Parts: sequence; C-alpha cells; structure tokens
Amino acid sequence: MRALVFHRPWEMAVEDRPEPEPGPSDCLLEIIATGTGGIVTVNPVIGCGHCPACAAGAAQRCPDRKVIGVRAEISSAFAERMVAPTHKVVPLPVGTPADVGSLVEPLAVGHHAVQRADLTGDDTVLVVGGGPIGQAAALAARRLGGTTVVVAELDAVRSDLLTRLGFDTADPATQSTDEIMAVLGGRASVVVDAVGTSRTLQTALDTSALGARIVLVGMAVPRVEISAYAVSTEERTILGSFSYDEAGFRETAEWASAHAAELEPLVDARVDLAEAPETFRSLANGELRASKVLVYPSGSPVTGADA
Ligand SMILES: NC(=O)c1ccc[n+]([C@@H]2O[C@H](COP(=O)([O-])OP(=O)(O)OC[C@H]3O[C@@H](n4cnc5c(N)ncnc54)[C@H](O)[C@@H]3O)[C@@H](O)[C@H]2O)c1
Repeated sequence: MRALVFHRPWEMAVEDRPEPEPGPSDCLLEIIATGTGGIVTVNPVIGCGHCPACAAGAAQRCPDRKVIGVRAEISSAFAERMVAPTHKVVPLPVGTPADVGSLVEPLAVGHHAVQRADLTGDDTVLVVGGGPIGQAAALAARRLGGTTVVVAELDAVRSDLLTRLGFDTADPATQSTDEIMAVLGGRASVVVDAVGTSRTLQTALDTSALGARIVLVGMAVPRVEISAYAVSTEERTILGSFSYDEAGFRETAEWASAHAAELEPLVDARVDLAEAPETFRSLANGELRASKVLVYPSGSPVTGADA
C-alpha cells in the first residue's frame, strides 16, 4: 500500500510499504475519503493497559504510553490503511463527514486543556495562540460555558479564521496588556497557553487575575522562564495538559459529529497522499499559510483545489 514516509526534516515521500498486519486485539482500518458511510476515528494514545492511570481511563498519564503518529514504529494514518487497537477505535454516528473524524483528535486536546481548568460559567478565558490547538481550546471553552472567550494571536490569517468561528481576538505584538484586557472586559480567570514559550506565559501572567488558573498545553520549547512571584504571591496555578482521557476523547467525538457545520472553518484544504510531501514542505517554509490541511489517502472530491 502507499504511505507517507518521514525520512528526516524536509524529506518525506510517498512509498510502497507492507500492508499492516492486525493482531488479535487490533482493527484494520481503511483510511477513508468518503463522508457517507459509518465511519470511525481513533484515540491514538495507547497506554500499557495495566497501571492505575490506564485503569482510570487516563492513558495520557501512563508512564509507558505511546502515541500513534508520534512513534515511528507504530502504523499510523498517513497511509491507505493502518491498524489500531480495537478498544481505541471510536465509532462516529452514520453520516458524520469524514473531515470531522480527522478533527476529533486536535479538538480533544483543546477540550482536555479547558477541562484541566475546571471551567465554570463565571470564567473569563484567554487562549494564547490561535493555531489548531488554540482554536480547539477556544471552542471547548465556549462549549463548556466560559462567559467570555478571547484568543490572542499574532497572525492575521489565523485571527480572521477565529473571527469566522465567532471569537474576539487580540494581537499581543501590537496591543498592550491593557488593550488585551479591554477586549476581555477585565482580567482573565483562566488562560490556556496554546503556544508554550516564556513570552506567552508572561502574557498569561500579565493578563490574568490573582488566583487565576493557567493551563500549559503548548509545547513550543522544552524549557521556559517564569515570573515566579506572579505565581507564588498572587496564587496563580499552572496546570499541565497532555492529550486527553478516554471519556474526553469520546465526548469530543460526539460533540464534533453534532456540530460539523460549526467546524467547517477549521479546514483550509484537503490534499491526497501524493500531494502531502509538498504540502508539508510549503507549510513548514511558510509558503502555504493554512491552519489545518487534511490528507485524504484515497483522494477526496474536493482534494487540492481548495488550498
Ligand atoms: N500538550 C498536548 O497534548 C499537545 C498536543 C498537540 C499539540 N501541542 C502543542 O501545542 C502547540 C500548539 O499547536 P498548534 O498545532 O496550534 O501549533 P501552531 O504552530 O499551528 O499554532 C501556534 C499559534 O500560536 C501563535 N503564536 C505564536 N507566538 C504567539 C504569541 N506570542 N502570542 C500569541 N500567539 C502566538 C502562532 O501565530 C500560531 O498561530 C504546539 O507547541 C504543539 O506542539 C500540545
């Protein structure tokens, strides 16, 4: 079968690979290009299955977790077919558009990040970074009841997308802390940092209230510098967030299936497998300023031209 193979940065190719062999507890999945059948999506976080975290449905906290699409040795979805453990396969309601199936994973990351803050109906939420993860966090914050949800984003194309999703935006490069707080209508009680740098954490501290919860889901750099007194003396809490738990993934899948129209702005383009190496290259070098491009290994009725 054909599969997209990553050799090293800037070098990807579509190559023939052996058919994946399902084991007794696996499913063989056809990576689809149709939105009309009964379809499934896959929770790609695989735990050991034995530890307390796995037993609690929180494989993201399993010390031996593996993530499909991250670990090169595991069959993954940039290919015509893949295998996945059957218990990780999440059926979607009949009629769910194929796009939605592939959006569930990033949407679940954003949902989990917001859940980590124990959002209430009184919370004012600032999401820093409006890429796919920030978009997902903003959608989740709105859905879980935040009174105000604002996204801070530097890139005008992404800010436009966020406006189309119905969010107010701010630009930390050109707007002061006071101006961002004016968009928020005060200080944020919850900030989701969907970038993960010293600078974005500083924005989170500067714009949030005493006692605020700051969720660090962005992973742009492995080490950050932080204004320690803004955490200690003002009692802010910093919460880590990684992927999602089983329940949150399934809940997000159900919600996404029922809100396909609301999610349409998230997808900028669809390409087939043969176009994938060039698409990755042009996204990485900035020629293509898309937010989310979906790869349809078997081709799509709208492939390519809508990029
Ligand atoms: N913790 C997890 O489980 C998890 C899962 C997936 C992705 N991630 C991480 O989340 C981060 C975001 O992912 P993404 O796909 O949205 O990335 P992305 O690069 O597509 O988007 C990041 C956005 O942040 C904006 N940005 C950068 N600096 C900013 C600043 N100072 N202020 C405001 N906006 C700023 C950029 O313009 C961009 O639009 C990445 O670091 C990724 O590795 C974490």
